[in-house]
Amino acid sequence: MISKLVENALNDQIRKEAQSSQFYLAMASWAETQGFNGIAMFLYTHSDEERLHMLKLVKFVNERGGVAIIPALEAPPVEFNSITYVFEELLNHEVMVTESINNVVDVCLKEKDYTTHNFMQWYVSEQIEEEALARTINDKLKMIGTDKGGLYLFDRDLETMAAAPPKV
Ligand code: FEO
Repeated sequence: MISKLVENALNDQIRKEAQSSQFYLAMASWAETQGFNGIAMFLYTHSDEERLHMLKLVKFVNERGGVAIIPALEAPPVEFNSITYVFEELLNHEVMVTESINNVVDVCLKEKDYTTHNFMQWYVSEQIEEEALARTINDKLKMIGTDKGGLYLFDRDLETMAAAPPKV
């Protein structure tokens, strides 16, 4: 059984994962309209992964005697300034999600809820990977700058990454 404080922290995380999924979906759709099909594919996959992160939390909360709350979501932007901007935003967003996961872990320790603490370790590792990937992508984009040929190859690279089997 989870305490009310842990339940609230997990429900807050459910909302953040759902919001991430929605945000990356908007990025994917925008990239598709700009002709970046590889980037779009990568972002659609990323959006799906965030939904799975949310779902895993929903099931855990319910299994542990809490009540998962499926949240209303803010509408994400329709337009993005550039591909560089999209990935800068993605990294900022992941950093925010990491902070939020650290907060859940902190609540678990305060509440002496070692079961949820253990469950959350998967998210801790996942965030290390996601932040590292987002930083690598941002570094590549810095090197590419405004070079159209570079961006074309980058788009193809992300298509290959998106085709890799999902981790979840
Ligand atoms: Fe599920 Fe990328 O945080």
